[in-house]
Amino acid sequence: MSVSNIKITKVNSDRVKSFDFENITFGRTFTDHMFSADYIDGKWTNLEIRPTEPLSIHPGNMTLHYGQALFEGMKATKAQDGTPLLYRLDKYLTRINASAKRMCIPELPEEVFFGGLRELVTLDQAWIPPQSGSALYVRPFMFATDDHIGVRPSNTYKFMIIALPAGPYYGRPVSLRAESTYIRAALGGVGEAKAAGNYAAAMYPTKLAQEAGYDQVLWLDANEHKYIQEVGTMNIFFVIGDKVITPNTDGTILKGITRDSLITICKDKGIQVEERPISIDEVIDAHKNGSLKECFGSGTAAVIAKVNKIGYKDQDYSLAESYQISSMLKESINGIRAGIIEDKFGWLEKLPILTTV
Ligand code: COI
Repeated sequence: MSVSNIKITKVNSDRVKSFDFENITFGRTFTDHMFSADYIDGKWTNLEIRPTEPLSIHPGNMTLHYGQALFEGMKATKAQDGTPLLYRLDKYLTRINASAKRMCIPELPEEVFFGGLRELVTLDQAWIPPQSGSALYVRPFMFATDDHIGVRPSNTYKFMIIALPAGPYYGRPVSLRAESTYIRAALGGVGEAKAAGNYAAAMYPTKLAQEAGYDQVLWLDANEHKYIQEVGTMNIFFVIGDKVITPNTDGTILKGITRDSLITICKDKGIQVEERPISIDEVIDAHKNGSLKECFGSGTAAVIAKVNKIGYKDQDYSLAESYQISSMLKESINGIRAGIIEDKFGWLEKLPILTTV
């Protein structure tokens, strides 16, 4: 199946011309078009790009009842000459299909995923914010579409891609509360999948943390409430002494693609990285003895979010705002994505510039 199998209906709109790229609120404005494909009778079909519009859903739709849904988050940027750039497509395909397998959703053929992305981002390239650090946030997602009451995997699914211009997800350093009561994921569960339900389950503990004055939850392991997993919206990194430490991907945390990119950049710059279990006690001890230099989160939406405070058992631990390594990493990843820094790892794919946009 090639990209030419996509039926394209273009919208006639100049909405983008009046969009304020300097003041973007994350998640509010959608681009002109969306991609969709249907899984029917064992194959992906009806590949289509059409104007972004509401969907009509039967009240018996299985996703509404049993939550068989997952998503991805990707970014498209522009090089200095205006060339649209996609980032690490292969990694996102691997991850969406790993999530799909775990959620009993049929995996996506490469041509559907890559074809839909390339075609949609090319068409809506005028929506890619020009400034470094901002990007077009691309949201592929899949969900069950059978109208059926009764627990079983759906026979039909939809795969869609929508896109949103985005500035920084967190515009300032964030505070985290290490969570000792609720859990996000246990070994054998769905923590590694980008399942919609993971985010729903995190909302109540996050609300409690926010009511207590923190921005986000720092999740601890399900067995002992001891080992750090991730933040609800990001993977987590600590700089202790001269080492960068991040929890290993043991099946309970998301295999972050930004996480992987930061590890690669660190190693390339000769910074020692350890992917291993790290306990909240180790972090608190490092804070007490002065060796905890930095803490930061990483994610596609957040890119790098600096952490200025960790709360644990009614005690707050503030971090000195030096952010040497996190600032370097942020500059590197944003620079690569803006085509300012050489793409020596081969992470970017160029799309054609449309002259009519
Ligand atoms: C992303 O980083 O892309 C995510 O999916 C996190 C979400 C909270 C925006």
